[in-house]
Amino acid sequence: MTSPRACETSGYSVERRGDFAVATVTQKVQDCPDCAGTGLIRDRVTENGRSYDVVQPCPRSRMITRASAFSAAHLPAVHAQASFDTFRPSNVEQARAVQLAREFAGKYPQTRGFVLSGPVGTGKTHLLCATLKHLALELGARVAYVEISLLYAQIRRGFQDGKSGGEIIQPLSQVDVLAIDELGKGRGSAFELDTLDELIARRYNSGRVTLFATNYSLKSPEDRAQRGYLGTDALVDAAKESKILADRVGDRIYSRLCEMCEFVEFPGNTADQRRTKSITDRVPNGPPRR
Ligand SMILES: Nc1ncnc2c1ncn2[C@@H]1O[C@H](COP(=O)(O)OP(=O)(O)OP(=O)(O)O)[C@@H](O)[C@H]1O
Ligand SMILES: [Mg+2]
Repeated sequence: MTSPRACETSGYSVERRGDFAVATVTQKVQDCPDCAGTGLIRDRVTENGRSYDVVQPCPRSRMITRASAFSAAHLPAVHAQASFDTFRPSNVEQARAVQLAREFAGKYPQTRGFVLSGPVGTGKTHLLCATLKHLALELGARVAYVEISLLYAQIRRGFQDGKSGGEIIQPLSQVDVLAIDELGKGRGSAFELDTLDELIARRYNSGRVTLFATNYSLKSPEDRAQRGYLGTDALVDAAKESKILADRVGDRIYSRLCEMCEFVEFPGNTADQRRTKSITDRVPNGPPRR
């Protein structure tokens, strides 16, 4: 097939609108030099040694489709400007994380996902959003972002309207790339574990790429080998106090994550950038605001 045109990678802006990041196409189709305002172009395509003409959307109308798909992905408004370039690593683990995210974007779709683990304010959601933005707007991938505890709340509300959890999960299980934020958060109830299990199992079974961020550690609990497999009831008890992701989500989910993703864990002393920001904002003549 023909390769994407250079101008597909420009001509949009991303801004905060309400709770979400929204993309707008800055170039109008009416002024498009390629399609004379029709939104369609004729292209010569060569496939299996045969050439033929196809009619397809012009770069600008393709960008409009990408921008509206990006806006429907519901990235948090606060991360509208997140990018790989604005991420400043402060240790080797953060440097590895941004490199992994860049490589992921470069190799997509021939690649595994990643799990970012670390303390609060260390840029995990920043990197998830930077990656989704790149995939949706530069590569045209269908993406979605979900904060897991908000998904549980949405499903609970859906029950009152007669909707099943499966109906709400369905679109999330079908996007090309899904970012699940705050993995392990919640009460660890059987309902939450079953919901997460269903979502991850669907994505795992269909071979779809998933990205994760979590405040819980990726280390294995020391008693893991002796303890063996945990069923749901035992898991709910083990999960309550644990700071370890494998305990929070259980063996079935954790096992799938190991196959689906690369893991990066930021050290416990990685600086909380929200605190740094608020300090520099208060210091007179301090470093300029970002
Ligand atoms: N290494 C970094 N370089 C640039 N900005 C950063 C970095 N780390 C964090 N930030 C900024 O700090 C703020 C908090 O980052 P973010 O929300 O990604 O943290 P988080 O790791 O997801 O935290 P939490 O665990 O609380 O969800 C954001 O504005 C983000 O852009
Ligand atoms: Mg976060």
